[in-house]
Amino acid sequence: TPRHGGFRTAYHFQPAKNWQNDPNGPMYHGGKYHFFYQYNPHGATWGTGNLSWGHSVSADLVSWTALHTALDPDSPFDANGCWSGSATILPDGRPAVLYTGIDAAGNQVQNVAFPKNASDPLLREWVKPGYNPVIPLPGDVEHDSFRDPSTAWRGRDGLWRVAVAAKLDASVGSTLIYRSKDFLRWERNAAPLYESPAAGMVECPDLFPVAEPGHQNGLDYAPSNGAARHVLKLSVMATLQDYYVVGWYDDAADTFAPAAGADNDSRTWRRLDYGHVYASKSFFDARKNRRVLWGWANESDPEADYVARGWSGVQTVPRKVWLDRDGKQLLQWPIEEIETLRKKRVQLLGTKVNAGGVNEIIGVAGSQADVEVVFEIPALEGAENLEPNGLLDPQKLCGEKGASVPGGVGPFGLLVLASGDLHEHTSVFFRVFKHDGKYKVLMCADLTRSTTRVDVYKPPYGGFVDMDIQKTRSISLRTLIDHSVVESFGGGGRTCITARTYPMHVEMSNSHLYMFNNGTGSVKVSKLEAWELATATVNVAHDG
Ligand code: FRU
Repeated sequence: TPRHGGFRTAYHFQPAKNWQNDPNGPMYHGGKYHFFYQYNPHGATWGTGNLSWGHSVSADLVSWTALHTALDPDSPFDANGCWSGSATILPDGRPAVLYTGIDAAGNQVQNVAFPKNASDPLLREWVKPGYNPVIPLPGDVEHDSFRDPSTAWRGRDGLWRVAVAAKLDASVGSTLIYRSKDFLRWERNAAPLYESPAAGMVECPDLFPVAEPGHQNGLDYAPSNGAARHVLKLSVMATLQDYYVVGWYDDAADTFAPAAGADNDSRTWRRLDYGHVYASKSFFDARKNRRVLWGWANESDPEADYVARGWSGVQTVPRKVWLDRDGKQLLQWPIEEIETLRKKRVQLLGTKVNAGGVNEIIGVAGSQADVEVVFEIPALEGAENLEPNGLLDPQKLCGEKGASVPGGVGPFGLLVLASGDLHEHTSVFFRVFKHDGKYKVLMCADLTRSTTRVDVYKPPYGGFVDMDIQKTRSISLRTLIDHSVVESFGGGGRTCITARTYPMHVEMSNSHLYMFNNGTGSVKVSKLEAWELATATVNVAHDG
């Protein structure tokens, strides 16, 4: 049976109804996970931005209980909206949140809030001290471009630091650092943490330490002696895309230097997700010693449609993130708890998809599924050539060379959320090219045939997978399918593409799942496992 028109998700985080955008203040505290999010209690649109913080708790990051809003725009320092922010666990174990208020005059300021009763296991009520804002709007920042405080951390000098997004001199996207002795009085450091002059306003900064290359454990902030390896993630407002770079954070100067070779312009960094994800935020999960990242995936159908549905926006599945062995890129992987939803399983070992072949994967309902597949490439010689020296735009390449355009090595991959006649399908696939004497792996999620509707955004998305295909001769793909979400992890989580889709067939019939290959040679499928996923309990009922 269709659930709310068939598009409502079964295990991606959503409030029971209404609009949500950015993840806010995720934390693990007192044996529970807390998740807050930008929320409009009055409807399914962002409206005038007069937002609250929605609040849910969970024991496992999979099942969520909805609580009342934690912050509402009811104080002079946030009268026009409680915008994004982050949680910090103070040394005494008490959590604090720093968030942006749109004050009564319409200026962006930074506020602090604390749990009313720190021994309430659900931290239901939050109080905003009357001394807010703790960081007023600086004179050299425009009134509407100062926001999104990060989790705070302490340096070797014992002072707190927080990163705040700001546009300086009318156009320079900056990340400012404020320091404090007491979490109440904050002083701006003269040097910004980072400036990205060409990118314009960059929102929701996230700076976090990472363990040595290849180590999967996460790190919490800790005073370091001088420069320490960190990741800086910025959300570029002009393109609604999240970018990150690995580099070095110096806690004496409070500056960040991207590792050698990285450009100053954040738009040239790696994309956190080459699909439809924005305003991501990570936290250190002390329960499992890992760093977990959330991101917002907006709707891409017309406003009138999601208003009619009564909800808008989902969160990605929480992802564990760590630094790849190459020291340059993050690996992202769905948190292992998602696997508790796996039920019916189909397994294929050592099969083949011939040139031009389409093999159906039978036995799992295709609208709530988790598919892991490893493709083996017998021969790379047939790879298509890309013009040398040309500027490579992966998204454009995915558009020109879609799933149905025959290639050499690939395109091969999955067709998901497919109608039985394949009239509707979303393709997630790889294609190997030869470029300047090297092999390059392109990953695409092509939505152009995802729905028969013409009024939704259905681009081809694409990113390269930074891996040595000549050495591995194989490439893995994991795709999580959830009604209107297709979230894919290529090359073990090196390249992620999240898409929103609105297939019409789901109203009448089941969705199917296929493997396909439009290359000239066959590809081996050394392993394929597909699971139907159970519906998680996500905010279905409001507790008092
Ligand atoms: C990012 C953002 C943030 C802001 C919030 C408002 O999507 O624009 O910069 O705090 O959303 O909802």
